[in-house]
Amino acid sequence: MNDQESTGEAAAEPDIPQRRNFFAGLVTIILGAIAGLVPIGAGLAVLFDPLRRRNQDGRNQSGGDFVRITTLKMVNADGLPQRFPVIKDRVDHFSRFPEMPVGMVYLRQTGPDEVVAFQADCPHLGCKVDFLPQREQFSCPCHASYFELDGTRIGASPSPRSLDTLDVEIRTGDAGEAEVWVRFEEFKTGEATKISK
Ligand code: FES
Repeated sequence: MNDQESTGEAAAEPDIPQRRNFFAGLVTIILGAIAGLVPIGAGLAVLFDPLRRRNQDGRNQSGGDFVRITTLKMVNADGLPQRFPVIKDRVDHFSRFPEMPVGMVYLRQTGPDEVVAFQADCPHLGCKVDFLPQREQFSCPCHASYFELDGTRIGASPSPRSLDTLDVEIRTGDAGEAEVWVRFEEFKTGEATKISK
C-alpha cells in the first residue's frame, strides 16, 4: 500500500512543473504582445498627429482665429474700403507652410478706433469683389452683383446675401502701434444665410 501510494505521488509530481512552465510561457507571450503594441501605438500617434494638429488648426483657420491684417494707420481714414491680403500659416495633412496668403478682406474705417471688415469673396460663387470708388459700391465682376458701402446687397444681384462681415479687434502691437486684427473665416457660397465652411 505504501509502495502504491508512494508510486502515485511520484506519478503526479511531473505535472506541476509542466503547468508552471505553461503559465510562465503564457505570461511571457502576453507581456511580449503588450510590449509590441506600445511602439505600434506610438507610431500611429505620430502618423496621425499632423491630422490632429490640422483639425485643431483647421478649426482655427476656418472657424476663426484672429489674424493681424495691418496697422490702423494703413487703413484709409476717409471711410472708403481697401482690400488687404490675409497672411497666416497654412497647414495641410503633413506640412505647415508659414506666412501664406489664405484670403482677402476689405477694411473700412468708420471711426477713430473703429474698423469694419468684409470677406472679399462674393457670396454668390466666390469671385473676389471689387470696390468702385466713384460709385462707392462693391461690384462682383463674375455675374454683376452689387453691394452698398456697408456690404448690403443691391437690387437684383445674383448674390443670395449681403457681403459677409468679419469680427474686428483693434490691438496694440509690440511697437505700441494700433493694429487691426480680423477673425478670418470662409463661408459657403450660394446660401441665403452666412454658414461657416
Ligand atoms: S460670383 Fe459674384 S456674382 Fe457670381
